[in-house]
Amino acid sequence: MSSTSTSTSTTLSSFLFLLIVFCSNNAEARRPAFACDEGDARTKDLVFCRTNLGIAERVGDLIGRLTLQEKVRLLGNNAADVPRLGIKGYEWWSEALHGVSNVGPGTKFGGEFPAATSFPQVITTAAAFNASLWEEIGRVVSDEGRAMYNGGMAGLTYWSPNVNIFRDPRWGRGQETPGEDPVLAGQYAASYVRGLQGNLDGNRLKVAACCKHYTAYDLDNWSGVDRFHFNAKVSRQDIADTFDVPFRSCVMEGKVASVMCSYNQVNGIPTCADPKLLRQTIRGDWRLNGYIVSDCDSVGVFYDNQHYTSTPEEAAADAIKAGLDLDCGPFLGIHTERAVQLGMLKESDINSALINTLTVQMRLGMFDGEPSKLPYGTLGPRDVCTPSHQELALEAARQGIVLLKNHGPSLPLSPRRHRTLAVIGPNSDVTVTMIGNYAGVACGYTTPLQGIGMYAKTIHQQGCANVACTSDELFAGATDAARQADATILVIGLDQSIEAEFRDRAGLLLPGLQQDLVTKVAAASKGPTILVIMSGGPVDVSFAKNDPRIGAILWVGYPGQAGGAAIADVLFGTHNPGGKLPMTWYPQDYLASLPMTTMDMRSNPRKGYPGRTYRFYKGPVVYPFGHGLSYTNFEHTIVDAPTMVAVPIDGHRNSNASLSSKAIKVTHTRCNRLSIGVHVDVKNVGSMDGSHALLVFSTPPNGGHWAPHKQLVAFEKVNVPARSQQRVLVQIHVCKYLSVVDRAGIRRIPMGEHSLHIGGVRHPIALHAEILGVIKS
Ligand SMILES: *[C@@H]1O[C@H](CO)[C@@H](O)[C@H](O)[C@H]1NC(C)=O
Ligand SMILES: *[C@@H]1O[C@H](CO)[C@@H](O)[C@H](O)[C@H]1NC(C)=O
Ligand SMILES: *[C@@H]1O[C@H](CO)[C@@H](O)[C@H](O)[C@H]1NC(C)=O
Repeated sequence: MSSTSTSTSTTLSSFLFLLIVFCSNNAEARRPAFACDEGDARTKDLVFCRTNLGIAERVGDLIGRLTLQEKVRLLGNNAADVPRLGIKGYEWWSEALHGVSNVGPGTKFGGEFPAATSFPQVITTAAAFNASLWEEIGRVVSDEGRAMYNGGMAGLTYWSPNVNIFRDPRWGRGQETPGEDPVLAGQYAASYVRGLQGNLDGNRLKVAACCKHYTAYDLDNWSGVDRFHFNAKVSRQDIADTFDVPFRSCVMEGKVASVMCSYNQVNGIPTCADPKLLRQTIRGDWRLNGYIVSDCDSVGVFYDNQHYTSTPEEAAADAIKAGLDLDCGPFLGIHTERAVQLGMLKESDINSALINTLTVQMRLGMFDGEPSKLPYGTLGPRDVCTPSHQELALEAARQGIVLLKNHGPSLPLSPRRHRTLAVIGPNSDVTVTMIGNYAGVACGYTTPLQGIGMYAKTIHQQGCANVACTSDELFAGATDAARQADATILVIGLDQSIEAEFRDRAGLLLPGLQQDLVTKVAAASKGPTILVIMSGGPVDVSFAKNDPRIGAILWVGYPGQAGGAAIADVLFGTHNPGGKLPMTWYPQDYLASLPMTTMDMRSNPRKGYPGRTYRFYKGPVVYPFGHGLSYTNFEHTIVDAPTMVAVPIDGHRNSNASLSSKAIKVTHTRCNRLSIGVHVDVKNVGSMDGSHALLVFSTPPNGGHWAPHKQLVAFEKVNVPARSQQRVLVQIHVCKYLSVVDRAGIRRIPMGEHSLHIGGVRHPIALHAEILGVIKS
């Protein structure tokens, strides 16, 4: 055969091959991944395809049919197909932190799905302190996710939310979290997960959520230490009463279908290789009904970067034996088979992992045949970016905005008196900045400038070219604008160039010359000057708090696609702000004796270590956790609450020693249903309707140095019309919320007088032990 004809036929066949690949890819792209196609004669009668059987039986049948090689290829996020069983490949990695995201290869935008509703960043929605809002957002996001899955553009397994504690104000990913308080983060986790996963019958899932990153992960890259190498040294006490709390709530109350372990080590062991964390705590103690996944390449990271094991096979075996079920990355797919051959791992260990992943896929309906016939099977392009979804994004931004200062009061502005506004600052006309990280493609944007433009005439000046603000070149234009306008709005702050994944902040002040811009503009301004801070983490704005020329300050977080409209609604008083800070705003010098690498929550006066978060830090703050003003005023009265509560103790299970202790172990009490009802009247004494987040804190009896000096035990959001009153019943679960954790990590209920605080009101509750007689069974 001549070389010419060979090359021609090669060219032709590769052209045909490409054509086939191209067409099948295209067809594939519009088909969601599923198995058990009724039209496929080879598979439709297989036991694992029979929807009338229990999921456990179906999963067992399927695993029994797989070879070791096939099993190993299902251990990575990019799970291989098993053509002989009609099982398509599946990409596990999709994200939906605050809207369907395009971070992760499982989700693409384009074609019939050019965009999805982009809600405010989580730190902003957390500030709303409204659990039904969080659940509602989850419901909408999963409608859109399921619609995109039906269109072949997304998966059903979303590795969201991020519920790590915002431990250090410099953390670049603090924006993704619900803040610094474990109870708030736990409620957020459970609510958002419920919204995402839906309330389907039995064990079914609308989509599968994932709480991440377990645990003590809250440092990305600080002063030469990065998350791939960091060993977080954490006390048992801090694990039990801080780091574990949101994850426990996510698993036990939210019933999440997945937990992700983190990159870092905890006390010398990579979290993804720690059987105490994965097998014992998450799966054993909390009874996870779902799968445990690694952070992306974190198994590779503990072998390659941390040198935790001497061979890759050992790393694979350690991870799976610790309880890892799925690897985000190729590592397990490459090394697991050899680990089995070397005797480090049994095939049954792999089966256990696959039971957990395949069960979730079955609960999602991925083995139930034609997806369009499933619940949610008819959701499609018209269910994404709907007017009501976009309205919820706007509403969430309104609810999350926090009014930090309102001197005079300067706000709300009046469209009659404030006809021309100077709108100034590096964030005054931004779009993608408003959606923060782990976002997708938004349906559309309303920038602050556009939002304000709906109420007044605007004069726009950037002031700084970007948030880094390295030059004062544009200051003159900004001060000129302020001189001419009836009021000045400065939209300043941060963006992903300052705080992001891989990027922790060095300090808490505004970057570059922004502070200078604000001060100069405020001095020049003819009318009131209003500062609008867009940021995930807290900013030390003491200068503005103390500057009488700055009338008001709003913190808007990263307010999502409709952020500019929400800001304008608050500025002009069509929405009365009710958000509250989900994290402490510290002064810059707080950082002086606070290495980011020191995990301790509790202060250490001997070392000059100040402690972390409002629960343990008592020093000066710029604005405290829970701070947030309104255009009206609310007063609280406790109308009914117990002052004495008996905590039942099992007689036969307790020695006298445990009873004489001042703090009884929770496990020694019968407190499953023990809860205190506190009736509070919330009175709106102003002239504007408003919503109010009622935060209830408690202070335990002289708990010694190790107890928090106060902690959030409940919160409720209420709407109260002007000059009227609402009665709110707050339920406080005694064992969960009036307990403290001792140095050994044991949760105890201190006997004696606890003090509840709501705003300025205090209420004492005395707890005492009541021994129950021996119950004969
Ligand atoms: C950490 O940040 C430094 C710059 O501050 C950068 O050079 C380095 O690549 C970063 N490391 C990681 C792991 O992101
Ligand atoms: C507890 O103390 C009481 C009286 O002080 C004593 O009668 C009883 O036997 C003790 N019980 C136990 C289990 O030690
Ligand atoms: C909480 O959010 C929901 C959903 O947006 C909203 O309907 C409700 O009014 C909010 N509650 C309060 C008290 O603001």
